[in-house]
Amino acid sequence: MTAEGARPPAVLRDATPDDLAAIMTLEHRLFPGDAWSPAMMAAELAAPHTRYLVAEAAGDVVGYAGLSVLPGSPQADIQTIGVDAPYRRLGVGTALLTALLDEAERRGATEVLLEVRADNPSAQALYARHGFTAIAVRPRYYQPDDVDAIVMRREGPA
Ligand SMILES: CC(C)(COP(=O)(O)OP(=O)(O)OC[C@H]1O[C@@H](n2cnc3c(N)ncnc32)[C@H](O)[C@@H]1OP(=O)(O)O)[C@@H](O)C(=O)NCCC(=O)NCCS
Repeated sequence: MTAEGARPPAVLRDATPDDLAAIMTLEHRLFPGDAWSPAMMAAELAAPHTRYLVAEAAGDVVGYAGLSVLPGSPQADIQTIGVDAPYRRLGVGTALLTALLDEAERRGATEVLLEVRADNPSAQALYARHGFTAIAVRPRYYQPDDVDAIVMRREGPA
């Protein structure tokens, strides 16, 4: 999968533990108030019930995304998705999300859930385009920013 445009094309591959430092650099840049700790991210990358992908361009990690499906569960969760600013609106987020939706289907999930900040219309637009609809609000979920979480759900296969 590639992104079109003036930037070098981004290609998706599975994340490995060696990607932790590059992912954490992006994590702090993209989610300054809500960044996961390196230990949490390392555990996510290593867990058997997750699948994490990175988007790489010219040798640099420019995006990443992760899915979690607990064994036997019909529910999959999009854990995170992020694309570095210079690589946005090139289809990288779409490629990452589509790959995770395919993986959810492979793992037998019949619905996919995620949480998104109420003040993040870009991500909400991406998810809405892929069949997610808002099903709940978790008031003041994101602290210390005091921002609501919108829970979005997508039914059925990718
Ligand atoms: C949300 C995010 C992952 C989208 O990544 P991306 O690579 O730009 O996404 P795409 O290029 O595949 O965009 C797909 C569609 O999503 C929507 N979209 C993406 N960014 C948008 C924006 N800034 N404004 C409006 N719609 C937007 C559009 O419908 C877009 O299609 P289009 O470019 O043909 O109009 C990216 O903006 C990002 O990393 N943001 C910071 C981190 C973040 O908020 N992550 C989500 C946490 S829940």
